[in-house]
Amino acid sequence: MDIGFGDPRMKGFVTNVGLITSSGPHGDNIMACEWTYRISYSPSLLAVCIGRGKATSENILFSKEFGVNICSTQQNEVSSIAGRSSGKTTNKIGALKELGVEFNNGEEIDVLMVKESSIKAECNLIKVVDVGDHPILIGEVVKITTNEADPITYHKGKYWNVGENIPKPDSNRMEEINTTVQKHVKSS
Ligand SMILES: Cc1cc2nc3c(=O)[nH]c(=O)nc-3n(C[C@H](O)[C@H](O)[C@H](O)COP(=O)(O)O)c2cc1C
Repeated sequence: MDIGFGDPRMKGFVTNVGLITSSGPHGDNIMACEWTYRISYSPSLLAVCIGRGKATSENILFSKEFGVNICSTQQNEVSSIAGRSSGKTTNKIGALKELGVEFNNGEEIDVLMVKESSIKAECNLIKVVDVGDHPILIGEVVKITTNEADPITYHKGKYWNVGENIPKPDSNRMEEINTTVQKHVKSS
């Protein structure tokens, strides 16, 4: 089955946005990547799914390292700029710097990191899972820092705040849930 870009049946997904930084044959570069996931605690692994042939993918396959900068609610413009053009034809880092976005040098990798991101994780590429049209690049985290900035969410092609916390069920309902689940515990 093929479910193309923009298909309304995929509108139920909510993601974060990773600003993926890299350096390689296409110079210093940044792209927006909503398919950015945490996939292991120990070792600490992150996965990013990146379309084949993108500048970011070619940089990472060359240098074997990348930065995952989780986009904050203050960085929607960064995401849009990073996601709109290719590092093969546009110096997005140069444009962003001129627009006032600040970068730091990575401490463990030779890649720029986006200052003020919610999470900044420096990764060494350890595996490529070459599936579908967005191969999975898995990186082991070698340095990670966070700040108080709220992460942005991405849903229905738009940026959102995380929003309000959904309250837990009240105590009566909790009791009903616990009793019901207990009734369905499988005997070993
Ligand atoms: C919010 C947002 C999320 C995106 N998520 C992804 C993604 O998960 N994977 C991907 O390959 N491209 C994604 N893109 C598109 C890339 O960012 C876009 O193709 C970019 O131009 C690639 O840059 P590069 O060629 O410099 O690597 C996204 C774009 C936006 C705006």
